[in-house]
Amino acid sequence: MTTPAGFPTHRPRRLRQTPALRRLVAQTRLHPSALILPVFVREGIEAPVPISAMPGVVQHTLDSLVVVARRAQQAGLGGLMVFGVPSHRDAVGSGADHPQGILNVALRAVRSATGDDLVLMADLCLDEFTDHGHCGVLADPGRRAGAATDDARRRFPLRGPLIDNDATLQRYAAMALAQADSGAHVLGLSGMMDGQVGYVRTALDAAGYADIVLLAYAAKYASGFYGPFREAVGATLRGDRTTYQQDPANATEALREVALDIAEGADLVMVKPAMPYLDIVRAVAHASAVPVSAYQVSGEYAMLEAAAANGWLDRQRVVMESLIGIHRAGAAQILTYHALDAAGWLEESRA
Ligand code: PBG
Repeated sequence: MTTPAGFPTHRPRRLRQTPALRRLVAQTRLHPSALILPVFVREGIEAPVPISAMPGVVQHTLDSLVVVARRAQQAGLGGLMVFGVPSHRDAVGSGADHPQGILNVALRAVRSATGDDLVLMADLCLDEFTDHGHCGVLADPGRRAGAATDDARRRFPLRGPLIDNDATLQRYAAMALAQADSGAHVLGLSGMMDGQVGYVRTALDAAGYADIVLLAYAAKYASGFYGPFREAVGATLRGDRTTYQQDPANATEALREVALDIAEGADLVMVKPAMPYLDIVRAVAHASAVPVSAYQVSGEYAMLEAAAANGWLDRQRVVMESLIGIHRAGAAQILTYHALDAAGWLEESRA
């Protein structure tokens, strides 16, 4: 029998005929254990406070945080990433490493509720705790990197707040010890200071915390998609983070950041945000010998929710599509504010 001219001999559609066939050949599968839920806990509130730019997400009380942690554990999530929202802030972010600081109190509450059954992660950064809202301590305005003389300082005055990288590392080390003491399994280093992973690793090891896992926000971009997060943590930042977070125009330096963090001892590396940076996720997944995570950030959540609320997009469908896309690009773990919903939908689809 001869094939009529032009008749297709290759029929990729064969493998798409039924849901069962499509399941059989699916290359990427999401599982609740790959999803990490970021949560906010706020000091001094009596009831959860909604975040208007993130419909469905709240600032938790200690009690409601513990409830959501138990739900995360029951849903089989990969982990919980906790951010603290303190009542008082100061120049060096004292609340970050104080045992009674809200984040440390919250870590103890969650750890005693869920033990080792849920991977408990803490955001390790100063921005929620500083009155100026930067991720590090500010350099003495009289000082300027590279300005060796008073004359040079006069002629080249500081333009904006300059972060004192190395002084910040000492604050991160103190914060790391407080978080380890409070029961965090994983510390999420999100400040983008040079040398932060190695510095914190050394401090933890010296204190007997060799088992604490470090998740390095290795390739973190200076992104407008963090907008709603500012409301979520009541941020006081004026200006931006362009002197420490990466320029969205750059790809190669992401690989440099990742290589440095791995060399310094990162156990996991992250790319952030996720959807606008899937090329980076892919490149890092190729280059990294440690698991690669991606953070679908607050603005990504807000976009999907806003469009769904308007009836412009099918919420469940686009949330799952966005997560499968991030996973397909190479992220083994995904931080997403949709983690609980997504885990529920995955459960339903298996039932
Ligand atoms: C810094 C930090 C930020 C986010 C996570 N960690 C804010 C920033 O870098 O400006 C943003 C997360 C999100 O937007 O969902 N501690």
